[in-house]
Amino acid sequence: MKEYHIAVIPGDGIGQEVTPEGVRVLEAVREVTGSFSLNYEYFPWGCDYYLKNGSMMPENGMDILRPFDAIYFGAVGLPDRVPDHVSLHGLLIRIRLEFDQYICLRPGYLLPGVKSPLEGKKSGDIDFVIVRENTEGEYSGAGGRCHPGTPFELALETSVFTKTGVERTIRYAFNLAQSRRKHLICVTKSNAQRHTLTLWDECFERVAREFPDVRTERMLVDAMAARLVLHPESVDVAVASNMFGDILTDVGGAITGSLGLSPSGNINPERTFPSMFEPVHGSAPDIMGQGIADPIAMIWTGAMMLDFLGEKSAAELIVNAIRHVTGEGRFLGRDLGGTASTAQVTDAVIAHIKACS
Ligand code: NAI
Ligand code: MG
Repeated sequence: MKEYHIAVIPGDGIGQEVTPEGVRVLEAVREVTGSFSLNYEYFPWGCDYYLKNGSMMPENGMDILRPFDAIYFGAVGLPDRVPDHVSLHGLLIRIRLEFDQYICLRPGYLLPGVKSPLEGKKSGDIDFVIVRENTEGEYSGAGGRCHPGTPFELALETSVFTKTGVERTIRYAFNLAQSRRKHLICVTKSNAQRHTLTLWDECFERVAREFPDVRTERMLVDAMAARLVLHPESVDVAVASNMFGDILTDVGGAITGSLGLSPSGNINPERTFPSMFEPVHGSAPDIMGQGIADPIAMIWTGAMMLDFLGEKSAAELIVNAIRHVTGEGRFLGRDLGGTASTAQVTDAVIAHIKACS
């Protein structure tokens, strides 16, 4: 029987509330299928750890994580206590960069029973994936500040785009599009950013020649944001730089009913390093500690992790159970207009998984 070693980092805020729920679902599906085992190790890294130890993770944190098959990550950030740029770069972004998780994969799918804020959309009308470049671009971390405290104070945040980094992301997106509706939108802002994103466009044209069966389009990011709102059904796969992909996927969360539903994977396709699976949402300090965070994004993220590990039928069981629970509408979280608690939503998902066995 296959055994997978999973590093679990609940992190901060609602990350600590939804991560155990995701693990409960993974356990349920493991029990029902009986075809693999999961071995978890928990790491209490995050803002509390930082306040005690002065760093978001131990010095050898990356060495500790390296042997795992995957990382299951809740959320990071407690902006009232630790500045966001410290907490995010010290843990999440560090793992993405050092483990070369250069693909951030974010599906946008309108679940049955979930009301989109867009008029007249029903389940299945919205079904796209955004492939976000995840290790360079606008979030490369290159830059600095000089002349602090003087009127000449200066801040530089340098976007870094490499041909290798861009091409491998675009190639991944083409392969994904080939397995779906064979349509890929290249999202840039190369009318204004005339160095980096023209390189991106050139890479796109080059890689596109390898995939003659995939229909392509080019769009500027502002127009793409509007298109997601006005005609989301026209989008199959879109590929974008780090920041643009980040912003567009929050739009994706909003139009598919709630950020509390959106899953995400930070993927190292070559499997040289572990990949990390985390919901799109953050630590939601506004609702933390109340037991009302929607666990579906975290649960769905667990399905993405199992799918990546090769446990396709277990992943499908989870996604089908989510569809059943939202479609039935008896246990919906507050974000979806229901009254169910975090635990009640999870219980409903687990009950359906068990009923299917
Ligand atoms: P957020 O995603 O935490 O929250 C945005 C809004 O969505 C809030 O109103 C929140 O209540 C709601 N929401 C989010 N997840 C939900 C869920 N599961 N169920 C119900 N409602 C949910 O984004 P925000 O407020 O901009 O950031 C809060 C903190 O999280 C900051 O420290 C930020 O840096 C961090 N952050 C961390 C991320 C990560 O760990 N991947 C991603 C985004 C933000
Ligand atoms: Mg984001």
